[in-house]
Amino acid sequence: MGAATSPGPDRGPPSARKHASGVFISFEGGDGAGKSTQIATLADALREAGRDVVVSREPGGAPGAEAIRKLLVEGPADRWSPMAEALLMYAARADHLQRTILPALEAGAVVLTDRFADSTMAYQGLAGALGAATVERLHGLVVGTNDPDLTLILDLPPEEGLARAGARPGGGTESDGSGAGAESRFENKGAAYQGAVRAAFLKIAADNPDRCAVIDASGPAGEVAARIRAAVCARLPSLGPASPGLPPLGLPPSG
Ligand SMILES: Nc1ncnc2c1ncn2[C@@H]1O[C@H](COP(=O)(O)OP(=O)(O)O)[C@@H](O)[C@H]1O
Ligand SMILES: [Mg+2]
Repeated sequence: MGAATSPGPDRGPPSARKHASGVFISFEGGDGAGKSTQIATLADALREAGRDVVVSREPGGAPGAEAIRKLLVEGPADRWSPMAEALLMYAARADHLQRTILPALEAGAVVLTDRFADSTMAYQGLAGALGAATVERLHGLVVGTNDPDLTLILDLPPEEGLARAGARPGGGTESDGSGAGAESRFENKGAAYQGAVRAAFLKIAADNPDRCAVIDASGPAGEVAARIRAAVCARLPSLGPASPGLPPLGLPPSG
């Protein structure tokens, strides 16, 4: 790995802030939990507070990673062996980190990503056939110490999430409406799997309490957004207004 990904002596001990100038936040949770909706709302609030914000997603977030995304989210549920699937996820993640996330953090931006490594641990590791230990090894190679500063885990019963996703324009695809059912490969893996994914995210949160916050994703989107703002302000107090006179992130939107 190149020098850009190395924690390096200038970044201090592992317990120190990893991203000296930017802030790295990931959103996790099952399909339809509201990740895309809430990222857009938080991005607006942060921009109003004077922050540069980069919104990204996984798999994807860089040109090569987006090409890999197509291989992962389209086609039959059993298209890939568990190991091939995890390697494709981490190939895309390596590209996303190098080309998008780390440069944005170096430039001082707040990076909001719609899914990151916890999705691989949940879907392929804990709920999937690969197991946690193998995913941890890939994670060490590719991500190393570049974990998010904060991970918001949007928690919702999977049947509610899938109902929301099914009502989305495009019927189950991402909200860009990129074709009915085209990106439904993971949603097609069945209710038991979706339940195991939810439990996996909650275990990840319990195992990583300093990094993760579980957000109750039920109820109206405005209420979920308020829970997210409260968690962000509590965990990352530095994300207040960038300069005096700008609105603090903790205030509810006017009107
Ligand atoms: N709190 C909410 N209550 C009801 N519907 C919601 C809520 N949040 C999002 N939605 C809608 O549910 C669908 C899935 O939300 P989305 O943000 O795309 O979820 P995700 O990105 O986690 O898959 C979208 O049509 C969205 O408009
Ligand atoms: Mg989404």
